[in-house]
Amino acid sequence: MTTREIQDEIVRLKKEKNICVLAHAYMTRDICEVADYVGDSFGLSQQAAKGDADTVIMCGVRFMAETCKLLSPQKKVILSSPVAGCPMAEQIEKEELTALKETYPGYTMVCYINTTTDLKTECDVCVTSSSAVKIIKKIENDKILFVPDCNLGAFVKAQVPEKQFAFIRGGCPTHLRISVDDVKRAKELHPNALILMHPECHPRVAALADYLGSTTGIMDYAEKSEHKEFLIGTENSIIQHLQYLCPDKSFYPVSKDCVCHNMRVTTLMDVLRCVKGEGGEEIFLSDETMKKAKRCIDEMLRLG
Ligand code: 13P
Ligand code: SF4
Repeated sequence: MTTREIQDEIVRLKKEKNICVLAHAYMTRDICEVADYVGDSFGLSQQAAKGDADTVIMCGVRFMAETCKLLSPQKKVILSSPVAGCPMAEQIEKEELTALKETYPGYTMVCYINTTTDLKTECDVCVTSSSAVKIIKKIENDKILFVPDCNLGAFVKAQVPEKQFAFIRGGCPTHLRISVDDVKRAKELHPNALILMHPECHPRVAALADYLGSTTGIMDYAEKSEHKEFLIGTENSIIQHLQYLCPDKSFYPVSKDCVCHNMRVTTLMDVLRCVKGEGGEEIFLSDETMKKAKRCIDEMLRLG
């Protein structure tokens, strides 16, 4: 089958079976083209919750499919590739989180959305990369324990100096592959390019950015900017998306190594198998777990 034939079959089956396909912005172009929504994990889950599809297929990683299930408990939610996990979301065990609470009494435990549902059951407030600063500013408590990404944490801390922060040594292995030397080399090659980076990068690297923001933040910035050349310091898949979105602009990777293999594991054939009902993994979470994990998401929505 050609790519086009596979895509047509996916679209046909989606309509026939009332299926919604979600694609994180780090998916490849062939997958994004058949998706009902493309974006960041929380935005996708919110879109799916608003719709009336019976089944939702999440093309992304496991915590994203779990978030989708938390927001749409009545829907059948399928993770397109069962092996797609997020190393950062699984960097800490629930028991370690419980122990941290004892080490930091009186702190509000804030978790990045990139955490397992099990971890979310222990957290007070959840944040996304685009909402973290806004939400944390609004938390009544001045003491914040932020898990698991200390790099995103440092980005928030710099913008919320009035609060006291505690971190653990967690982070995204993909974004941490970008080094200061990578940025310098890329800038030498493209001296007129603006550097757009994700706050999951190491703070020494992030300090060299002209703009720091979430994936959707980076995409919006590049689209609206009058500038013509950009160096992209986040997962390299968005370079191709940006190139289609803004054909008159040029986009270059800061590092050839900023590739998330977990995000790249899903193929168009996986999506076809899922819509046929032959592939992926259905997400099951107990009512008790969903109730507990949803609290920190509801708190984010209340504060936001
Ligand atoms: P955002 O899409 O929320 O910016 O997150 C980046 C990421 O690493 C997703 O796994
Ligand atoms: Fe996880 Fe980083 Fe991959 Fe996102 S890019 S899924 S945070 S490892």
